[in-house]
Amino acid sequence: MVQDIISIRDLEKADIENALLTAADMERFAEKGTTMAQGKILSTLFFEPSTRTMMSFQSAMNRLGGKVIGFSDIKSISVQKGETLSDTVRMMEQYSDIIVIRHPLEGSARLAAEVADVPVINAGDGANQHPTQTLLDLYTIKKEFDTIDGLTIALMGDLKYGRTVHSLAYALSLYDVELVFVSPRELRMPHEVTEHLKEKKTPYREVVNLEDIPKVDLVYATRIQKERFADPNEYERTKDAYRIDKSSIRLLGDARIMHPLPRVSEIAPEIDKTPNALYFEQAGNGIPVRMALLSMLMGVNR
Ligand code: NCD
Repeated sequence: MVQDIISIRDLEKADIENALLTAADMERFAEKGTTMAQGKILSTLFFEPSTRTMMSFQSAMNRLGGKVIGFSDIKSISVQKGETLSDTVRMMEQYSDIIVIRHPLEGSARLAAEVADVPVINAGDGANQHPTQTLLDLYTIKKEFDTIDGLTIALMGDLKYGRTVHSLAYALSLYDVELVFVSPRELRMPHEVTEHLKEKKTPYREVVNLEDIPKVDLVYATRIQKERFADPNEYERTKDAYRIDKSSIRLLGDARIMHPLPRVSEIAPEIDKTPNALYFEQAGNGIPVRMALLSMLMGVNR
């Protein structure tokens, strides 16, 4: 197993499978808790907004019996006074046994891992990577379908700036899947990712309209990442590109629908109670998966 979790590409398939198995094992502690991580402290360094990721890391650490410190409001910390990221990380590693960081700059988590001797987990670095989201996505898929191999999976929405879909596409290339990329032309999957898929011989096709999605097992919908657009007009043009609602869901048959959340308008609330919806369960899976990752990296997993 790796020492830090920075990019999903750093993980071998065996590491991924091992993390998923450990997560399944953690389910039994996910409600009643354990004392595995007693005496350990997690610090959560969130330089960008977060609800699920930060809260589920905090909840996971509490369930493991450890403690949590951290910040999510950068106005309250010394960055405001000009402190560098490396200095902040150097401090936090002395205050904690493991660090989770989210930062708007690509490569920031890698930098933090280089500076810190304690394990570092990337909770999202700009538009780049979000590896722990991917692990909980894979966990959700496995739980729902009993397998990842053999599935046809559509990734829909902001494939250009969405870090969740970048990490997920790389991870899925380790499995025997077919991919469908559904996005406005301006927000297509980056070349770097599609080149990788070609190398790995993972079949993929690209479509623009929801109506053009072939029969798939799963649609992974994403939010158009407003905060990453250099041109606000481009955001305005693309923000309403997709909406799964009572009428458009007919086009998707019984495909399951996942979403890393938060959603804006891409999935209507009326879909929540349909058998297609998997996104709230998916968010809940963040707990066993993050318990597994924290315990493995801290070496307290027994
Ligand atoms: C995602 C993220 O931060 O990249 N959210 C999450 O962690 N569940 C997706 C998003 O913000 O759209």
